[in-house]
Amino acid sequence: MSNEKQFSGRIAVVTGGGNGIGRAISLALAAEGASVAILDREAEPTAETAEQVRQCSVSALPVVGDMTDRQTVTESFARIKAECGPVDILVNNIGQTARENYSEFYLAEPETLDFVIGVSLMTTLHCSRQVVDGMRERRSGKIVSISSDSAMNGDIGTVDYASAKAGVLGFTRALARELGPFKVNVNAVCPGPTNTRAMQRIPRDAYERAKNSIPLGEICEPEDIANAVVFLASDKARFITGQTLMVNGGRVFY
Ligand SMILES: NC(=O)c1ccc[n+]([C@@H]2O[C@H](COP(=O)([O-])OP(=O)(O)OC[C@H]3O[C@@H](n4cnc5c(N)ncnc54)[C@H](O)[C@@H]3O)[C@@H](O)[C@H]2O)c1
Repeated sequence: MSNEKQFSGRIAVVTGGGNGIGRAISLALAAEGASVAILDREAEPTAETAEQVRQCSVSALPVVGDMTDRQTVTESFARIKAECGPVDILVNNIGQTARENYSEFYLAEPETLDFVIGVSLMTTLHCSRQVVDGMRERRSGKIVSISSDSAMNGDIGTVDYASAKAGVLGFTRALARELGPFKVNVNAVCPGPTNTRAMQRIPRDAYERAKNSIPLGEICEPEDIANAVVFLASDKARFITGQTLMVNGGRVFY
């Protein structure tokens, strides 16, 4: 029997793969045979994800840097190309809310708006820009970006984040049209509230409220998002492009 897995021989890049959803995606792609480059600004968790990826008997390249810096993005992808080869699968997973600077829009600081758009939208554009030439040339490739159900639901206090994540969906649709003729698929996944460190930081009553707002009655696990990404990155999704897959236990319909 062959040991071939569906992503054997393919190179995947996962941005923000050091923690949470990005780590789960890195491990799920590795379990299906992909070699994974993990781009993240936190050195220790990135090294740890890389170690866990290697336990799947594939290679891992941890690349540490802040992907809101364009020079760092260019250098990181040059390193991946030199050390791993051409990228087959890009998962744009970096993103965050304003966290401690969270506020309703009438109170928002301009710097916070710039920060959230920078980290939650521009990283997706700049990282994708690094791989599209190669994917067009090879006439194959998969780009999957992590948006949020906030893009549809417009949760209070997240005008900046919802704007960025809705931008990720516009990016997905427009790029899908441009790259369709080159057989490159571009899709998005929208998680609802998901059990990562951000979720664990919120007060217990807010956690319970989030849980109660979900018809399936549980908070999503990072692996649920990873399963959706694996599908969209696979050959089984060959005729799906420009789409948004909601993985939120039914919290928001689209
Ligand atoms: N957890 C949720 O409830 C939830 C819900 C909807 C959408 N999302 C989205 O899912 C994605 C992952 O979220 P998570 O909960 O796993 O977050 P997380 O904070 O646990 O992980 C994000 C990772 O991205 C890295 N990162 C952040 N900014 C970076 C930068 N500028 N350069 C390099 N690396 C950077 C962090 O170091 C971290 O390892 C994000 O885009 C987030 O907006 C999360």
